[in-house]
Amino acid sequence: MQTDFLVIGSGIAGLTYALKVAQDCPDKTITILTKAQSDETNTKYAQGGVAGVMDMDHDSFEKHIEDTLIAGDGLCNRKIVEIVVKEGVERIREIIEWGAKFDKDKEGEYTLGKEGGHSESRILHHKDVTGKEMERTLLTAIKNKPNINLITHCFVVDIITQHHLGFLVTKATPDIACYGVYVINMQTNKIEKIISKITLLAAGGNGQAYRTTTNPAIATGDGVAMIYRAKGRIENMEFIQFHPTALYEAGVAGQSFLITEAVRGDGAILRNNKGEAFMERYDARKDLAPRDIVARAIDNEMKVAGTEHVFLDCRHMDIEKFVHHFPNIYEKCRSIGIDVSMQMIPVAPAAHYSCGGIKTDEWGRTSINNLYACGECASTGLHGANRLASNSLLEAMVFAHRCYLDAVKKTEELHGSPSTGGGWRETAVPDWNASGTTAPKEMILITQSLKELQLLMSDYVGIVRTNVRLARAMKRLDLLHEETEALYQATEISPQLCEVRNLITVGYLITKGAQLRHESRGLHFNTDYPYKSDRLQNVVL
Ligand code: FAD
Ligand code: SIN
Repeated sequence: MQTDFLVIGSGIAGLTYALKVAQDCPDKTITILTKAQSDETNTKYAQGGVAGVMDMDHDSFEKHIEDTLIAGDGLCNRKIVEIVVKEGVERIREIIEWGAKFDKDKEGEYTLGKEGGHSESRILHHKDVTGKEMERTLLTAIKNKPNINLITHCFVVDIITQHHLGFLVTKATPDIACYGVYVINMQTNKIEKIISKITLLAAGGNGQAYRTTTNPAIATGDGVAMIYRAKGRIENMEFIQFHPTALYEAGVAGQSFLITEAVRGDGAILRNNKGEAFMERYDARKDLAPRDIVARAIDNEMKVAGTEHVFLDCRHMDIEKFVHHFPNIYEKCRSIGIDVSMQMIPVAPAAHYSCGGIKTDEWGRTSINNLYACGECASTGLHGANRLASNSLLEAMVFAHRCYLDAVKKTEELHGSPSTGGGWRETAVPDWNASGTTAPKEMILITQSLKELQLLMSDYVGIVRTNVRLARAMKRLDLLHEETEALYQATEISPQLCEVRNLITVGYLITKGAQLRHESRGLHFNTDYPYKSDRLQNVVL
């Protein structure tokens, strides 16, 4: 199969980009690949909303920029922060034009929420299901574009580079180029190749590397792992954001249900097992301090008391308002026997967001030619050492737009089109070589490795790190890597095997980044280096 523009991922980043390219280039083909149903993405689960300076009377670009820089703890790229904050407003207006509905008051003004680290109320939301509304809007809009082909249940294994043509590719190779991807067609279980002129990676996050995460099962860091294998540049992977308040449900494994920070924005208070409102002991901003501080405070309270959760107290809040703003959370709590007007909600931190990722420039270009990245899998320089709440959907839209502008310009430079025989020729790319592999005999080899990985990442590379824990994690990762590579070489590959392999790579990158950072900054806290270094550095792997 050949296409002009290939998009990996059907979340906010991939869909926004595809829609823009399709509008601008009606004669070009755009193919979107996604490994699950079209809407099964991190985007769909976003609750709090999207940050944007919509009320110029009370807010300003400068304030949003300053809040982002403070949360980022010295490592944000100021130029990128300015781009995202300023261009973000235009992108928000665009998605509203495409049909997204954000909540308004009786006067027809947007009701703007507040979250940790924001000095003003600036979060647009659709109840507590903002991501679902944005995803719905984009999926509806792309349906009207005849030049977009969305293929679901199609698992991307690797990007195709000169390596697959028999050339030696190392990190030092100049002009590594992307020619398309190898995929597992999950309907037929066959491995196919898709050739493209320009590829966008919008493959999302990697929360599944941890035992408890707010991320759905698709968040397995495939994009980052693919680029690492292809010798592209990855940076700042040690900055994993733990959301302070995921619902704690004893014995429930997999994706944790999020209790949005907007609940604290509306007045909810964190309490420990003695009922104390503990946040005032950690930060003057109390429950609305940036996430790294709140998550560490909760972690400490849990360790001191030997408990597996703290509580979020909403009992003093106006229940009618609560139900109106947070119907999804209210229902979820009710379904497990918690009446939020009478009982406190048990919560604990959970892996939530990857601030680092595939290194990109201000146009979303990666270190590999013809390959762009945006959304959670990318590291643009916006978040630095800690992402400000609700800046992620904004960043995804801004960079999807920038990738689109640059990619369209780039295709005009590339002569011919794959579909007319010009540009890259399919015949040059070999088919996938599965010779010597046999059908997998035991799924336990994969599922057990996944459990081990998630446990070791949570216990050794979690909210608080030490040199000894990181060294232990690395030893165990080495073994998991060795075993999984052996399996990968000998077995017919499956999405499950590829995902576990990718998660082990991501686990390695997070741990390596953490070992190389000899300081505590933002989301990375190592008790052996409890101070900030004077040297500001990005860890590039
Ligand atoms: P995603 O939306 O995750 O999409 C990734 C896509 O890539 C999926 O379609 C997936 O199937 C596909 N994919 C991945 N690997 C492969 C592969 N190998 N082959 C084929 N397809 C593949 N951010 C905010 O700004 N505000 C919020 O309120 C907010 N709330 C959140 C609440 C929750 C519970 C979570 C989990 C996140 C929240 N975030 C929020 C973060 C934000 O939702 C995500 O960072 C953002 O949606 C990521 O968008 P994306 O397009 O980059 O990736
Ligand atoms: C939340 O709603 O608390 C999540 C917001 C975010 O991750 O930006």
